[in-house]
Amino acid sequence: MKEKYKVASLFSGCGGLDLGFIQSGFEIIWANDFFKEAVQTYKNNIGEHIVYGDITKISSSEIPNNFDILLGGFPCQGFSVANTKRSMDDERNFLYKELLRLIKDKQPKFFIGENVKGLLSMQKGKVIEMIINDFKSLGYNVEYRLLKASDYGVPQNRERIVIIGNRLGIRNPFPKITHGLVNNLFDDNLKPYITVKGVVGYLSKVRTRDISFDLDGKIIHNHIARTNVADKFWGRKHNVNQHEICDYLKFWRNKSGWSTKKIDKHFGYLHTAGHWFRKDNNSGSIPNPSDWWELKSILGFDNLYDKAVTELELKEIKFEQSLRINNWELPSDTITATGPEIHPNRERRMSVRECAIIQTFPDDFIFYGSMGNMYNEKLIA
Ligand SMILES: C[S@@+](CC[C@H](N)C(=O)[O-])C[C@H]1O[C@@H](n2cnc3c(N)ncnc32)[C@H](O)[C@@H]1O
Repeated sequence: MKEKYKVASLFSGCGGLDLGFIQSGFEIIWANDFFKEAVQTYKNNIGEHIVYGDITKISSSEIPNNFDILLGGFPCQGFSVANTKRSMDDERNFLYKELLRLIKDKQPKFFIGENVKGLLSMQKGKVIEMIINDFKSLGYNVEYRLLKASDYGVPQNRERIVIIGNRLGIRNPFPKITHGLVNNLFDDNLKPYITVKGVVGYLSKVRTRDISFDLDGKIIHNHIARTNVADKFWGRKHNVNQHEICDYLKFWRNKSGWSTKKIDKHFGYLHTAGHWFRKDNNSGSIPNPSDWWELKSILGFDNLYDKAVTELELKEIKFEQSLRINNWELPSDTITATGPEIHPNRERRMSVRECAIIQTFPDDFIFYGSMGNMYNEKLIA
């Protein structure tokens, strides 16, 4: 049997990109991310080779040498057009330097970086120029292109910059388009775009729920969805400090002797309570008002944060992105972390499973963690 090309993967998240490589016959030997739930999802679905931790704290000597290709969908929030405060100063922007470090230290034959379209216009094109020049200075032949996932048979008009570099002195292998608009198929070889309806239509009338279930002999996982989808929504009136409140809740929980498991059981949740007592910004969350009052009745905390947490006011949804409705008869708009993508004919967001299908995750790929995290694990991909 032909030996598989070996791949190491940075910023792997729950493994969307890695999965594509595995399906194409590559072997991932090492991966990394510091988003706990995403790492768990990766381990459960893909493999134990992912290392949980901050890449800036992992030295090159801790990472294997024997890989041919380095992947890195480096974090994009700092660059994204969805982020109105995007700036050169955002320290996440500099995480591509981790990719640089490993290319320099490990000399893979190829590397592949991926990022949002906003990178092209940042600082009038200076940012992409800087990044490409940095990669070139390591002796790699580097090219980038803006690719659209729907052109390759994914039911989503997701545009991403793909940067490929190699040190073999050859042209970089960008893929050929395979799909196009039905009435614009001037190329006979192109197949029609895959539509949202075509892939998730069958789930449209199926009730969302927190557990996996059997639908006509097929097991459906993660068909769970948010329902706050109006153009106005009830949002918190006051600014809250998540760290302070999670610490406070942790203190009262310890005092009361209730375990998070017992609290989840009390509320009928799977793992929500754990997040109320967590400090880190990635996974901590503040209970909604009705859960807050219920929690108060069992933990007996004082009134310190009652107002801050429970006073709501009607707010407009600000980002035009937030109200995006998927076009049922075409590939969907880009699924993002700032969503919510609203189901075209249901009063709810697209469910986690529907989003996953639109991202072409396999049906048996199961997401773990709270609903917010499940959306995030793949939406940030
Ligand atoms: C854009 S996502 C990549 C998604 C992935 N390519 C996929 O296909 O699912 C960026 C990821 O970088 C991770 N990340 C950000 N900063 C990190 C750091 N310092 N160390 C490790 N991972 C980090 C985030 O947790 C996030 O999962």
